[in-house]
Amino acid sequence: MTKAARSVASPRVVSIEDFRPIAQRRIPQSVFDYLDGGAEGEVTLRENCRVFEDITFRPRHAVAVPACALCTRVLGFDLALPFLLAPVGYSRLMHPGGEVAAARAAGAAGTAYILSTISGHRLEDVKSGSSGPVFYQLYLMGGRGAAEAVIERARVAGFSALVVTIDTPVSGIRERDYRNGMKELISGSPLQKIQFLPQVLSRPGWLTAFLRDGGLPSLPNVVIPGKGPMPLVDINAALAESAVTWADLRWIRELWRGPIVVKGVLTGDDGRRAVDEGAAAISVSNHGGRQLDCVPSSLRALPEVVSAVNGQVEILMDGGIRRGTDIVKAICLGARAVLCGRAYAYGLAAAGEAGVTRAIEILRTDLERSLRLLGCSSVAALDRSYVNVPKSWESN
Ligand code: GLV
Repeated sequence: MTKAARSVASPRVVSIEDFRPIAQRRIPQSVFDYLDGGAEGEVTLRENCRVFEDITFRPRHAVAVPACALCTRVLGFDLALPFLLAPVGYSRLMHPGGEVAAARAAGAAGTAYILSTISGHRLEDVKSGSSGPVFYQLYLMGGRGAAEAVIERARVAGFSALVVTIDTPVSGIRERDYRNGMKELISGSPLQKIQFLPQVLSRPGWLTAFLRDGGLPSLPNVVIPGKGPMPLVDINAALAESAVTWADLRWIRELWRGPIVVKGVLTGDDGRRAVDEGAAAISVSNHGGRQLDCVPSSLRALPEVVSAVNGQVEILMDGGIRRGTDIVKAICLGARAVLCGRAYAYGLAAAGEAGVTRAIEILRTDLERSLRLLGCSSVAALDRSYVNVPKSWESN
């Protein structure tokens, strides 16, 4: 076992939550809070996790479950696990391995990885690093010219789907990022950076690895025609340039012939609209509680979208997944699979690829154990009969 793998082995890391303090000690506060934090009062961020407590199980006991099938199919791809790794911006700041490490761990586990536009590694390197399917999450940063170029590169590199995020007309205010000087550290002058440097200097291990990796990366997948790769920008500037309308989606569909996942749907109306606009799948998502605060948790929004879409496309969901039981609950409420973001990103920040592998392994063993305890032999057989849903949820 490598040193990194040992650092996140049991008993130090038994659950996803155990990665958090290790990540917090390894990376600067600004990077940790970017990963850990949400918008405004973080009401939705907290509710995304808490809401899973509202759903309880209805196990079938005294049933022999000699083997559990965890596999599923998403957009025609056979996945060994009913979860994919969600797009996570700035992954290369969490660990130099960044997106390549996460994609490699996903592929080795038999699942898909979704690469964020706000990524520090070239999409070609991420794709060739993984043995599994890789999807590209598209923001319109850098304008349509940059989007056209990246869509073509993704096609040539063999990406399997585009994930278009629709909930970022501007960035939500992530107050922790302001307090930590995220903007100044990323794009400020040396003078503006000074007051925020102690938190970076207090993480010498991270700092050494960061400097060896070349310091602040550019955005190699946002190449502006005639100008080259965009420099790394702070998240507010990045997302303010990222508004996607249904008209943009139509334009994207002309360029990308493969499947498109529309991510950021929270209502039945938007779900139906996404289907009408040609989405092959939808991710019910509030962007991990990072955009508009006080929207419902993703799990709470899921039944309305499932019922409105009525089986026309596959429904994914993301937000708040920390345990295998969370994944089981989302599938019982109609999700085909879920996307995990922070659950693996804490692992990445704690120990690079070994941390991502460990996070996936925790969720995999959780899933297997939970299915056996439920008396259910496959993810495909999960449905509402395995859960109690609060009365107040029952209109959908
Ligand atoms: C990027 O998409 C972010 O939410 O930080």
